[in-house]
Amino acid sequence: MEYLFERGKSQGKKLLLLHGTGGDETSLLEIARYLDEDATVLSLRGTVQESGMNRFFKRNGLNQFDLVSLEVESDRLIQMITSVSEEQQIALEEWIIVGYSNGANIAAHMLLERQIRIKQAILLHPMSLGVDTQYFPLSERKIWLSVSQNDPIVSKEASNKLIEQLKNRQAEVTAITTNSGHQITIDEIEQAKKWLDER
Ligand code: MLT
Repeated sequence: MEYLFERGKSQGKKLLLLHGTGGDETSLLEIARYLDEDATVLSLRGTVQESGMNRFFKRNGLNQFDLVSLEVESDRLIQMITSVSEEQQIALEEWIIVGYSNGANIAAHMLLERQIRIKQAILLHPMSLGVDTQYFPLSERKIWLSVSQNDPIVSKEASNKLIEQLKNRQAEVTAITTNSGHQITIDEIEQAKKWLDER
């Protein structure tokens, strides 16, 4: 799995970046720098190809998710994050995920379905993938997420469902709404930064 690692200053946050469909490990770098210019960054590239676009798991059309691929790729991603973290001597608990769209979706899936030690995430325009098989509490998890009121890809139901899934498992959820469609806006990044600065 391709990735980029940049060590920041010791007082900086540890940001783990997961791009959206068609992105790569450089896509969210500017946002990461805006969130914290001193951050250490681990940014991974999804291994699934869809018409030349990188993704973190397969789909069979818009929002028709391949749930077998989702499980396989979630394990691969966790393995990779664990291995780089060990190599760089960064505790998994220190990472704060910053995921957009497809990257936010696999991040939410990992938090809900795997007992990973990562506790915090900024999820930009995520949605529920409809998988909910676990019961372990997410009480130490703090999730900030953005929902757009007129997102052509993520329905209100799908984002509300994810919020409900996380809250039902006692995660601390901060959800903000935008009206930008599926794109990331500077306004939401500013709000995410405020939340992050309080961590
Ligand atoms: C995307 O285009 O990336 C979708 O919104 C989310 C996904 O496919 O996981």
